[in-house]
Order: sequence, then structure tokens, then C-alpha cells
Amino acid sequence: MLKTLFTKGEIDDAVKRLASCIENDFDDEEILFVCLLKGSFMFLSDLIRCIKNTSTVDFMRVSSYGTAMKSKGEVTVTKDLEESIEGKNVVIVEDIIDSGLTLKVIKELLLKRNPKSLKICALLDKRARREVEMEGDYVGLTIDDGFVVGYGIDYAEHYRNLPEICVVEKDT
Ligand code: IMP
Ligand code: MG
Repeated sequence: MLKTLFTKGEIDDAVKRLASCIENDFDDEEILFVCLLKGSFMFLSDLIRCIKNTSTVDFMRVSSYGTAMKSKGEVTVTKDLEESIEGKNVVIVEDIIDSGLTLKVIKELLLKRNPKSLKICALLDKRARREVEMEGDYVGLTIDDGFVVGYGIDYAEHYRNLPEICVVEKDT
């Protein structure tokens, strides 16, 4: 059973807040947005439309092994970036920070490629589930434990098309 956690209006407000923080921080500098597939594609598309800076986008896909609902931090890159990030202002766009393991690995990997700056923008943060130290630089909404879907985020590849963000609740 799905229960709405954030409406499209609440998501839009969070995205606009994030966009204006990013705009303020980067002045008139160019930004390369790195979208982590697949869960962040909808977030990226809304976010970049609210940001006036000159920008480019690139996509990366990683898989982290574990069960469908929990990652184990063994992260492999299944689709790498096409652009060099050297000397660029990079903003990683992620749907959810959960244990923090995925972003920790990606951050370390991308830092080795010598960007000018590297920031993390996450729509959702499950702070209580953190297993490693990992702070998003721009965080939209903090949520409790619980599995969410919608607005690009999936459960077994489904529900990405929902316009709102819902919690999956076990049927009783
Ligand atoms: P982490 O490595 O544990 O931080 O995992 C982060 C990734 O796990 C996110 O980018 C999501 O792809 C996935 N994930 C974590 N929580 C959820 C959820 O509630 N619904 C769907 N995917 C999730
Ligand atoms: Mg993800």
C-alpha cells in the first residue's frame, strides 16, 4: 500500500529552495550537474530548470549490491561520465542519502579526477540510517526510516512515474 509522504507542491517547494541555495553559492560560475541514475532523473530535470547559471549535465550509474531495500556499500560504476570533470564545479544530484555508502564511494572517486569543487545535492535524507559520515551540501527534505517511491524513485523498477513521493507500507 502506498501512502503519500510529500505532494508535488511540497517537492516543488523543496526543489526551488535547493536551486536558490545553489544559485547563491555559485554566483555566475558554470556548473556541471552529475545525475546519479536512475532515481534522480526527475529531480535533476526540475532542479536545473530553476537554476539560471550556465550549466552542463552528465549521467552516471552505479549499482550497489545488497537486497532491494538495503545497499551494502559495494558500489560498482555501471555507466561512467562522458565529460571530464577536471577543473569544473561539480554538483552531484542524488535522490536519497540512506546509509551514505554510495555517495562516499562516488565522492572519493570523483575527487580523484580533480574537479574545481564538488558538492552533493540530495532531495531526501534518511539521516537516522547513516552508517558512514556523509553530509549533503544541499538537502531537500529529511525523512524517517521507511521505503519511499515516486518522483523518479523506484521499488523493483516500478513507481518512478508517480508525481508525488509515497511510503511503501506493508498490507496488514
Ligand atoms: P546508500 O548507499 O545506502 O546511501 O543508498 C543510497 C541509494 O539507495 C539511493 O540512491 C537509492 O537509490 C537507494 N535507496 C535508499 N533508500 C531508498 C528508498 O526508500 N527507496 C528507493 N531507493 C532507496
Ligand atoms: Mg540512487
